[in-house]
Amino acid sequence: MGAIGEMQHLALAWAWHPSRQGWLEMTESTHHAGLEGIIAGETAVSSLADGLSYRGYAIDELARHARFDEVAYLLLYGELPKKDALSAFRQRLSHFAAVPHMVIDVLRAIPAKAPLMDVMRTACSLLAHSEPEVADNSHDANVRKSERLLAQLPVVLAARHRLRQGKEPVAADRHRLFAENLLWMLTRRQPSPQAVQAMEMSLVLYAEHEFNASTFTARVIASTLSDLHSAITGAIGALKGPLHGGANERVLDVLREVGSADKAEAWIRDALARKQRIMGFGHRVYKDGDPRASLLKPLCAELAAQTGQTDMESTADIIERIVRDEKKLPPNLDWPSARLYHYLGLAVDLYTPLFVVSRTAGWSAHVIEQLDHNRLIRPLANYTGPAPRRWVPLESR
Ligand code: CMC
Repeated sequence: MGAIGEMQHLALAWAWHPSRQGWLEMTESTHHAGLEGIIAGETAVSSLADGLSYRGYAIDELARHARFDEVAYLLLYGELPKKDALSAFRQRLSHFAAVPHMVIDVLRAIPAKAPLMDVMRTACSLLAHSEPEVADNSHDANVRKSERLLAQLPVVLAARHRLRQGKEPVAADRHRLFAENLLWMLTRRQPSPQAVQAMEMSLVLYAEHEFNASTFTARVIASTLSDLHSAITGAIGALKGPLHGGANERVLDVLREVGSADKAEAWIRDALARKQRIMGFGHRVYKDGDPRASLLKPLCAELAAQTGQTDMESTADIIERIVRDEKKLPPNLDWPSARLYHYLGLAVDLYTPLFVVSRTAGWSAHVIEQLDHNRLIRPLANYTGPAPRRWVPLESR
């Protein structure tokens, strides 16, 4: 091989590493589509090893014992709150829940047909304009901003939901805790203890999940030394896609399309034969099953029995069994959570925004962690375009 040939070979096999000022060996295995299996950073927020845990606490313990606001505190501060700290945190959340009039005015002005997830994305960005510490990226300011956002987004969601029904928004009730308040603001009815428990558990399970697509988006944005609101606005955009958070709404579309348990087997076998992607199944990381789905399923069954909707549970069971048998794909969290929200009487397009309300805790914890140990996130790509070629003047093309 001549000198040029050797250089081309080298160019394919090695890549220049600017900060190390040296060549790194690049092999075929350095490219992983979708970054599958790549460790893209370090985190102390949560771990998927040996089952999901937040800050070292196993998800099943948190789901059974913790309220969402305790988990949000744990994610933001790294420790479970003591009594006094929790009560001060709750007071701050209820104090911050007052959303500026300007935001409510914009919520009124956004066209009625705008999807709720788009409204949440806009509102998060809009809230930045009233945020006194928006450009302060210190650790403490970011924690304070996270608390404010955590308190404001549920109010925004409920306000927009009521406005589109021709009703006036209601302020948060400072005597109610986060999950109960959320249900109350959305429905303006006193939720049952079972409904509150179901909402608490779903919010706890949705709160955090390591380097998923939306969290990674938030970290990439934060890594440029942008700000927390920009990072979370971007994360909301990433979450809305049907391969990520948007799946929970599509799950209910599927269950409604199937219609009833007696039609489930024929429907799912036909869908699988047509190679249709079944929303609520599969996961990039959990190949043997999503522990969050197993935790939520019994609660779903209970709520279905209480609300007389056992046929939907049977429909779901049949689909689950056949997708497991035929595709070896277990359900993910979105599979039971969609039914849970349906049994709570919530409109389908609230499901992914509820995910936003909860995941704001996890996103914030990651943005704070990223900025505390920042390094710009800037990976490389394998070039697959045309070989080098000469410029062609416009008149000769
Ligand atoms: N239905 C049918 N086939 C599937 C599904 C599914 N839900 N998920 C994966 N597969 C198949 C896929 O077609 C592929 O088959 P083949 O090798 O024959 O082409 C194989 O399994 C691997 O799929 P993949 O898309 O390469 O796997 P991934 O790790 O990139 O996908 C996923 C993960 C979540 C995007 C995918 O499982 C999926 O699209 N699920 C449906 C959407 C969904 O429920 N998303 C929620 C994810 S978890 C909670 C959250 O983040 O909100």
